[in-house]
Amino acid sequence: MVELAVVVPTFNERDNVEPLLARLERALAGIAWEAIFVDDDSPDGTAALVAAIGGRDRRVRVIRRIGRRGLSSACIEGMLATNADHLAVIDADLQHDETLLRGMLAALREGGTDVVIGSRYMAGGDAGGLSSRRLMVSRAATKLSRLVVRADLTDPMSGFFMLTRAFFHETVRYLSGQGFKILIDLFASAPRPVRFRELPYVFRARHAGTSKLDTLVVLEYLWLLADKLFGRWVPVRFVLFVLIGLSGVVVHLAALALFYRGAGLSFIAAQVVATLIAMTTNFLLNNTFTYRDRRLRGGRIVRGLLSFYLACAIGAVINFQVAEFLFALAVPWLLAGFLGAVLGSVWNYGVTSTFTWARERPRPAGPDRALDRPAADQD
Ligand code: GDD
Ligand code: MN
Repeated sequence: MVELAVVVPTFNERDNVEPLLARLERALAGIAWEAIFVDDDSPDGTAALVAAIGGRDRRVRVIRRIGRRGLSSACIEGMLATNADHLAVIDADLQHDETLLRGMLAALREGGTDVVIGSRYMAGGDAGGLSSRRLMVSRAATKLSRLVVRADLTDPMSGFFMLTRAFFHETVRYLSGQGFKILIDLFASAPRPVRFRELPYVFRARHAGTSKLDTLVVLEYLWLLADKLFGRWVPVRFVLFVLIGLSGVVVHLAALALFYRGAGLSFIAAQVVATLIAMTTNFLLNNTFTYRDRRLRGGRIVRGLLSFYLACAIGAVINFQVAEFLFALAVPWLLAGFLGAVLGSVWNYGVTSTFTWARERPRPAGPDRALDRPAADQD
């Protein structure tokens, strides 16, 4: 029986795999453990290396995900793939102190605890490996996490922890699975108060390779918080789509002022130009934020834009028709107008999410895969 499964999410961590396994071997002597790497089709061949090691060491295996990215979802899928009673998550880059795993396991074995967290911010811990800019962001993110995490954690951003399989399976169906912060997700999603303990450790500098943390991670974090705050009632994506739609009204009126009053176009001509401009900025904003995970690039932007125009034109017709129909039924003008706009937005959202930003089919791996995300900054 395997007692401890160590889940290691990886993206381009080839040169860290062997050093990490050597350290786990030493730290976990006498414990029945296994290591599950969850690799998102790293172009550097991380998965192939792990698979080769797994060929001679049955404790080591790899889950390969194709056409997917995401640290949290990788951890979740790794933890789902084992029968061990205790599940740990650790980064591949040796920043987390693997010698803490033994103490974490001992704490869980005593019973009465669901999660043991490695903390950089309690007495005895140290975030040494973090730059001062990262430290500031980490502090701000910790404050924000109080919106959704009710437990008093010193290091809710930690990516280093161990939990019981029982607790994980109690919680897994409620997880959001979005972004980088799996621990926050676990605490915010658990159907009951989490019994936790924290153990201090010293955060080290990254061994090989580069960090995958970029500005997108910040956006994903806010997304996770929003999903935990109100995602049960309305999808975060839809809220973002509507907010961007509202910003389009402002753009439209500004463009109208510019072309009608400023440039002296006829009202109808200025309206047409303003509509096109507003739809275009809406498209670009949605492509950057709302559909950041399915972002259209290169020539596909033009096709996407045209389908967006078409969908929104039909949405406008629906909007007018519904409003006019209700108005004719003596519904007050403001309510009729509002309901027309709501139905138009739902149409626009539904249609563009299926056609404009259709789920992509996985592409064959190539050298350009590494460029799929903005450049990562150094740890
Ligand atoms: N499968 C998969 N998919 N793995 C990923 C992805 C992804 O999209 N993005 C990152 N990883 C892997 C990396 O390969 C690495 O093993 C681990 O997740 C952490 O990524 P880093 O890029 O090294 O993150 P970090 O050092 O900035 O931050 C980490 O440590 C912090 C302190 O504990 C993360 O774990 C943070 O969540 C954590 O706060
Ligand atoms: Mn790291």
